[in-house]
Amino acid sequence: MMSSPLLHLLIVCFCAVRVLALAAAVPDDLSVQSSASSTKGALCCTALALVLGSKVSFPKTAGYNAFVSSYWSAQEQAIRPSCVLSATSAQDVSTTIRILAPLLCKFAVRSGGHAALAGIANIPDGVTIDLGSLNQVKLSTDKLTVAVGPGQNWGGVYTALQPQGVAVPGGRASGVGVGGSTLGDGWGFLANQAGFGCDNVVEYEVVLASGTIVTATQTSNKDLWKALKGGGGNFGIVTKFVFRTYAVSSQIWAGGIVQLAQTQDLPQLATAIYDFTANPQYKPKATLLVGYGSHPGLGLILFIQVVNLEPVDRPAVFNDFYALPGVQLYNTTSLTTLPGYAALFNLDSPSGLQQITWDFTFVSDKDTMQELWTLTDGSQLQLSNVTGIDWSLAFQPIARGMTAASDTASGGNNVLGIGQAPAQGLQLAILSASFPNAADYTKVKAVADKLLADVVAAAKRRNTYRPWVDLNHANWNQDVFASYGAANQQFLRTTAKAYDPFGVFQNLKPGGFKLW
Ligand SMILES: Cc1cc2nc3c(=O)[nH]c(=O)nc-3n(C[C@H](O)[C@H](O)[C@H](O)COP(=O)(O)OP(=O)(O)OC[C@H]3O[C@@H](n4cnc5c(N)ncnc54)[C@H](O)[C@@H]3O)c2cc1C
Ligand SMILES: *[C@@H]1O[C@H](CO)[C@@H](O)[C@H](O)[C@H]1NC(C)=O
Ligand SMILES: *[C@@H]1O[C@H](CO)[C@@H](O)[C@H](O)[C@H]1NC(C)=O
Repeated sequence: MMSSPLLHLLIVCFCAVRVLALAAAVPDDLSVQSSASSTKGALCCTALALVLGSKVSFPKTAGYNAFVSSYWSAQEQAIRPSCVLSATSAQDVSTTIRILAPLLCKFAVRSGGHAALAGIANIPDGVTIDLGSLNQVKLSTDKLTVAVGPGQNWGGVYTALQPQGVAVPGGRASGVGVGGSTLGDGWGFLANQAGFGCDNVVEYEVVLASGTIVTATQTSNKDLWKALKGGGGNFGIVTKFVFRTYAVSSQIWAGGIVQLAQTQDLPQLATAIYDFTANPQYKPKATLLVGYGSHPGLGLILFIQVVNLEPVDRPAVFNDFYALPGVQLYNTTSLTTLPGYAALFNLDSPSGLQQITWDFTFVSDKDTMQELWTLTDGSQLQLSNVTGIDWSLAFQPIARGMTAASDTASGGNNVLGIGQAPAQGLQLAILSASFPNAADYTKVKAVADKLLADVVAAAKRRNTYRPWVDLNHANWNQDVFASYGAANQQFLRTTAKAYDPFGVFQNLKPGGFKLW
């Protein structure tokens, strides 16, 4: 029996192979007029355009240029794919995979384009699949679930849901894409009440390596459903997420408090962070993020993000932070809305800069925090001659209540391997470095790598080190899936083998964290 998708595959394949054969037969003196067009990637694009026509854009066209410059990091903008395939349906994605995989064409997958690493969602000499037009936000009539396209961003989701009085646990900054962030975990303002974004995905629509479009839920393709809760882009291309929704107050209180980071004030800050995270009277509507670092024009500062999803001015849950000593430069705290604050926070992260991040986890501990700040001081001194550098280490509490909420929402079915946080909680430390000149990359990367080695060593010495790495802020040299624990890593590998037996997503899609 020959199913129609297989028939389609054969036709497409035959057609594409003929294009390759024709292209190979073009005499050298004709093909030299554009040496780029004779690369493997360009041939793959020619094959794709035969079937998908104007959905394929080529270099030097307006659509292509606009697409490439819409990545967040400068290093992703610098990559020139052989062409861009703009999918407008899951079927387009399926057709694309059915053409590219049999021809062993390399490709990248891009949703919001906010991942920083060069080549994570873009590819030189290959096809970049743009999911930006898969951007639906469709609330169910009972308002309990919402179907969201991977190419939508969190600002779009929050804005569409705000009039309905609901939201989903997504990312903080409005520009972050739903696709990549949710496949890593998806951590934002609802995390303490609802866990990660991935914990709340009840259904995924996925294009597999074979081109088949499947649905993964708790009852159908359950292993795939679970693997996608932290496993990244290793199993297929997700073309739709269905999230569980949560009622959210139309008015919230949120903002950033920016003050000078003075050494004598840091013990009180460490205590405030520790107490907030360890508080047994845990407030699930409140979230905190504390950044420490140097910013052009401001010097060494603290950025204290306080968000509480209730219409209450200066909520008491952050009293210890209002009482901090030191010089407040300004704050943006106010009564606002979830989409309003996500958009405001997004302004802190402009696009087009060089970006370097890494992250690691430690058991919440005041001495560890202080040592990490001291190490951050030391590292930023080595960068004093890097023009326009913004260098910041942020702590994000993982309270026990958050791991409990995550567990409840996923029914124990994510693969992150964080487990239950200890009573005092955990802290995720995230380094964010941005700077304008590509020429400084090697130097800044070396200082970032050294700082990661130093903070890990410090936490290990203090016995507060935890292996978990958040995929969404990890660097290439971090082994994300090993950090989930051996059993989760093995589960991810077994599941990838079952859904992608020939390793299309391991080998033909080089971008993203791989299982092998
Ligand atoms: C300013 C800023 C703020 C951030 N804030 C948060 C935050 O609050 N919470 C948080 O959790 N993270 C946050 N992040 C990190 C963010 O989650 C990651 O950068 C994430 O990868 C972005 O998703 P994207 O869709 O924009 O990424 P992309 O760059 O488009 O993709 C990232 C990776 O995911 C893969 N991928 C994307 N979509 C799909 C898909 N549909 N199917 C298969 N594979 C896919 C890509 O191939 C690529 O490897 C932030 C990042 C930035 C830059
Ligand atoms: C923010 O700044 C205003 C004006 O200086 C001040 O009145 C307010 O107390 C500050 N809020 C916080 C939370 O520090
Ligand atoms: C920057 O400073 C370091 C020492 O801290 C030095 O080794 C390096 O040469 C300097 N680079 C430039 C471009 O001045």
